[in-house]
Amino acid sequence: MSKRTCLAIVLAAGEGTRMRSALPKVLHPIAGRSMLAHVLAAVRGAGTEAVAVVVGPNSDPVAEEARRTIPKAQVFTQTERQGTAHAVLAARAEIAKSAADVLVVFGDTPLISADTLKRLRGAIDHHASVAVLGFRAADPSGYGRLVMNGHRLVAIREEREASDLERKIDLCNGGLMALRGEVALEILERIDNKNAKGEFYLTDAVTIADGMALESVALETAEDEVRGINTRLQLAEAEAVMQRRLRVAALDAGVTMIAPDTVFLSADTKFGRDVTIEPNVVFGPGCVIEDDAVIHAFSHLTGAHVGRGASVGPYARLRPGAKLGAKSRVGNFVEVKEAEIGAGAKANHLAYIGDGRVGDGANIGAGTIFCNYDGKAKHRTEVGKGAFIGSNSALVAPVKVGDNAYVGSGSVITDNVPPGALAIGRGRQVNKAGWVAGKQPAAKKPAKTAVAKKKKKTKR
Ligand code: UD1
Ligand code: CA
Repeated sequence: MSKRTCLAIVLAAGEGTRMRSALPKVLHPIAGRSMLAHVLAAVRGAGTEAVAVVVGPNSDPVAEEARRTIPKAQVFTQTERQGTAHAVLAARAEIAKSAADVLVVFGDTPLISADTLKRLRGAIDHHASVAVLGFRAADPSGYGRLVMNGHRLVAIREEREASDLERKIDLCNGGLMALRGEVALEILERIDNKNAKGEFYLTDAVTIADGMALESVALETAEDEVRGINTRLQLAEAEAVMQRRLRVAALDAGVTMIAPDTVFLSADTKFGRDVTIEPNVVFGPGCVIEDDAVIHAFSHLTGAHVGRGASVGPYARLRPGAKLGAKSRVGNFVEVKEAEIGAGAKANHLAYIGDGRVGDGANIGAGTIFCNYDGKAKHRTEVGKGAFIGSNSALVAPVKVGDNAYVGSGSVITDNVPPGALAIGRGRQVNKAGWVAGKQPAAKKPAKTAVAKKKKKTKR
């Protein structure tokens, strides 16, 4: 790999009109992470030292996402859309700053891997000044074609300008390119817009380099890696590719999945060893699942931390801030949000645990609700270690149930319960002996039914 430093320029000025969306194209998520963030993660993984992101006009959210992902990223604005080379030159100041090699990456190519970017940067050596990432397209239409002369790349021909013979070439331009630092700016500035589209084509860098007696090379990668996303259908297809990758990675890391195709992961989902995931489970962003945990079928987790050996679901919902201790159990139709469940604690059926803490070994009965919201603000509920909350209880926050305390079934708890106490907050049951018989009206002749009357009539 090249020892020279590298500047990555990520083009994110795409209009994305074919997405039919209010959201800028590169902010559409794949596996719970924006396309731009995927590309930036690959760029970072490839060890580039500096990152410039080129955004379109009025793209504050795109700039924010870039800085959120890579705080040191420089953001440049391409005010008019005049082609890929024009977009790269929006970052001229950064290119001019140093003689670092320049790596150009498209923001709408989210499946690109860090390894491939590394290979591309590494291809710039004492022979090659330009390296282009190519792929064999099943259907090459619409792509630029790589025109080779032996192992040398001599031109990239955009479809509109290609001859019939050139259109037969199936080696296509994936759009990514690396340029040697010392000559990058000179090559880029020589690109003109005298072509069918009247745009400054980055692809012309190859013929220009050739004219400067500089060599260009092409590397090949799988088509999947350079899929460009322009439509929702392509977005869904890229999602499928990404999900497949994430499932394979999880299986490789020691996760058991009974039906991997039904498990949906986020790019940042983290698993320990010997985790079991049953069918139809969704992991939104920010989940960590520790060793030996079991996630039962039809559970939905987002921003949740599941401790070692814990059991979740079936049909559990863990929302952001759910933190499950070792060997705890959260069962069917239980929702946990912004709450800690202590080691070995259980909430096995039909409960809402929001904004609070459940101590180690506590038992939350079926139908228990943490009433955390008073219409204006959220309040916390604390349940102590070893406490027992009887079924169908409402804990009205802010409230504390002490260690080892008991709450009788059906209670509405509005006052703190001291450790070891029993709290009962419900109407007292009254039994009225013999009440039923006493209330019965005096026995009457049973009223004649319609059918009985009818029968009588017909008899007559
Ligand atoms: C480009 C390549 C083509 C390649 C294909 C791969 C050029 C001239 N052509 O074509 O050879 O096969 O990608 O997908 O490079 N962009 C800007 N500002 C602009 C124009 C484009 O930021 O003024 C960004 C877009 O947001 C996008 C990327 O550059 O991320 C590529 O632009 P696009 O118009 O999609 O290029 P293609 O016609 O697909
Ligand atoms: Ca494109």
